[in-house]
Amino acid sequence: MILAPMQGLTELLFRRAYERRFPGAIAVAVAPFISLTHGNVPRFENKALADVNPDANRGSIPIIPQILGNEPDEFVAMAARLAQMGYDEVNWNLGCPMRRIAAKHRGSGLLAHPDEVRRILDAVVPRLSVRLSVKVRLGHCSPDEIYALIPVLNDYPLASVTLHPRTGKQQYSGHPQLGHFARALPLIDKPVIYNGDIFTLADYRTVVQRFTGIADVMIGRGVLYDPLLPLRIKGTAPQSDEEALRLCAGFVEDLVGDILRLQASDAVKLSKIKEYWCLLYKALHVPETEARALLRTPTLGEMTESVLGISSKF
Ligand SMILES: Cc1cc2nc3c(=O)[nH]c(=O)nc-3n(C[C@H](O)[C@H](O)[C@H](O)COP(=O)(O)O)c2cc1C
Repeated sequence: MILAPMQGLTELLFRRAYERRFPGAIAVAVAPFISLTHGNVPRFENKALADVNPDANRGSIPIIPQILGNEPDEFVAMAARLAQMGYDEVNWNLGCPMRRIAAKHRGSGLLAHPDEVRRILDAVVPRLSVRLSVKVRLGHCSPDEIYALIPVLNDYPLASVTLHPRTGKQQYSGHPQLGHFARALPLIDKPVIYNGDIFTLADYRTVVQRFTGIADVMIGRGVLYDPLLPLRIKGTAPQSDEEALRLCAGFVEDLVGDILRLQASDAVKLSKIKEYWCLLYKALHVPETEARALLRTPTLGEMTESVLGISSKF
């Protein structure tokens, strides 16, 4: 099981807290994307690279850095920088659905342009000293875009193809289009990783039983809805609900503690706690209306008190 990249969520802070509480439960994570814009390539110690700093990542979940962009020279330079830092694989983000990103033929905006993808891979692959994997959706506008893209991907020595079976336009709404995943899977001649809407052990079992050809699964939101999901998949989660809740509550407390220790303003810390709370409240079985009401809490002190008040009940 691979932890999905989620900008602002599965960042270093989360990965470190998770590994401390549940060592070895998640084998590897793809880190949230590093964008090739904003001069990220020439500068080494900038904010974008802090998340993949090897020293800071020691004792955390092992990661594969991810790059978002469409500029071959910058991509190669960033991959070289990451290789220098000790990484042996980078992942190319071909799935980000954000309109302002996709409109510039980056992320899922490239999916409908297989010729452009080929041009980029032609320019990048021979110059890489690291393995390259890709993370894609079915398409940006239409799920059929994937069928023109697959022959292109098959022409390059990619380490894996992670497929989230939604379109960019779908964002995260509706359901994963599993029929298209089933059709695409045998056409891809690389290890294929399934990603999308695995929220429970039952969801996981359904996916691995239906798609026997997949090499692995990647899970994002499911790990925040239920931090014990990776342990449930491994068969190492506690049997009793009470104990499971206690473990989740301990993790939430760790995470909040780590956020409070950040060198950041109270406003930043408050919004970070709220970002996590939007998903993690489910792990503590808090009713949605109560969880949403908490998002209106105006100060860091009150928010912390409320969240820790809930978690300390377990
Ligand atoms: C808040 C948020 C941030 C995300 N950031 C990234 C990212 O940096 N790179 C990426 O490839 N996918 C990103 N994704 C997509 C996830 O990796 C994943 O494909 C998606 O959440 C579906 O998987 P899930 O149903 O297991 O969550 C993000 C998703 C969310 C909700």
